[in-house]
Amino acid sequence: MVRGVAGGGGLMRVGVVGCGHVGLVTAAALAHLGHEVLATDADHEKLALLARGGVPFFEPGLAELVAEQVAAGRLGFAPETADVVRGRELVLICVGTPPRDDGEANLAAVERVARAIARAATGPLVVVEKSTVPVGTAERVRRTLERERPDVRFEVASNPEFLREGRAVRDALSPDRIVVGAETEEARAALRRLYEPLTRAGHRLIETDIATAELAKHACNAFLATKVSFVNALARICERAGADVRAVAAVMGSDPRIGPQFLEAGLGWGGYCFPKDLAAFGRLAGDLGYPFPLLEEVARINDEAVAATLEKVRDALWTLEDKRVALLGLAFKPDTDDVRFSPALALAELLLREGASVVGYDPHAAAAAKAELPEMCVTEDPYEAAADAHCAVVCTAWDEVRSLDLERLRAVMRYPILVDGRNALDGERAAALGFSYHPIGRPSLDGGGVR
Ligand code: UGA
Repeated sequence: MVRGVAGGGGLMRVGVVGCGHVGLVTAAALAHLGHEVLATDADHEKLALLARGGVPFFEPGLAELVAEQVAAGRLGFAPETADVVRGRELVLICVGTPPRDDGEANLAAVERVARAIARAATGPLVVVEKSTVPVGTAERVRRTLERERPDVRFEVASNPEFLREGRAVRDALSPDRIVVGAETEEARAALRRLYEPLTRAGHRLIETDIATAELAKHACNAFLATKVSFVNALARICERAGADVRAVAAVMGSDPRIGPQFLEAGLGWGGYCFPKDLAAFGRLAGDLGYPFPLLEEVARINDEAVAATLEKVRDALWTLEDKRVALLGLAFKPDTDDVRFSPALALAELLLREGASVVGYDPHAAAAAKAELPEMCVTEDPYEAAADAHCAVVCTAWDEVRSLDLERLRAVMRYPILVDGRNALDGERAAALGFSYHPIGRPSLDGGGVR
């Protein structure tokens, strides 16, 4: 992992607007690279928490990195956008772009921030769009900046983020690639200086025009979501054909043209990026005159993954009314407390609607899940969640779930029925213990514990 002080062109005074998953990780990582970073957020409670040394969400290694950089004097927080713009040479826009009802990205926050940046600018400024935005947004940002402050020279660049929640610190300090979309030498030079400690260490920087960089981000997320939906459709076919989706995926993944990642069948994708980016990209393509129905199909298969898992529970339990179902894992994936668009919560909602009582376990996301779905009971103890349950469903492949003591689980459950929505458990062992074990895209195993 790269450490330390920016060399070459030297350190930069950087402003970051937005302290969410992207902004806070980026701010801390740039400070770690040696830059002097001041960050802000519209949510003043979040800023107060950061000022007290807290971090507003769970992300492995982030609290430590933030504390280290604050202590080193390279990272600070300020209440207003103007504070992180004045006297800075480069400002990164990292605010949210939530979906509207029709899927279009809501860019109101980006525009508001662009206006605030323009008003506060004290000299030439490079304004970098890091939020995931539809192609064309940087051009809008540039126009907004110039309209507000025709007296200031602004350079606009797009620098999309490829951080994964749960691995964001590693991804920021050791990126596969850094993508910079810029159209002036000044903007390109500024971004090269910003990332010089990483490129010096061998990390790849890809320079493109602005529209290409903006589009590349949507293309990556849409393609990854497509890969997961492909393997989930394959799982449905394997279930009907008596094949094993993991083995089929292993054969596919061993072809370097396909690659092994993002071929894990299960409950499907969620989180704050894939669902909104897929919808926004589809909407954007249509607006550009190229309807892209493949993306709608990708989303449909993803919904179907949850429905297929519900069907397995229904098959095993017959009717769901008055049944108790334990959900093992609630976050949209392991190593995050994020439950936004989590397939686990989508499943919980369907189960509740059919009259089941649902107890969810998650090592980090229980409170967030409860806030999202108050009808569900939550606990941070998997055995408590499974106590007296008629069925347990693995929804998130946390290490804590993978390493469950199946014997103990068997002892506390009312019926020994396991639906493994992430193919995370040792099915053979579960069956040997008497569980009736229902994985995804593979034949069920009947341990004979329930008839
Ligand atoms: C995703 C991208 O991977 C990042 O590159 C990008 O920067 C980020 O969105 C973003 O746009 O900000 P993230 O949302 O953190 O990152 O989650 P992923 O690790 O991509 O997983 C997405 C979902 O796909 C999860 O629900 C995961 O459980 C699911 N998934 C992933 C599968 O069901 N099967 C797989 O084989 C892989």
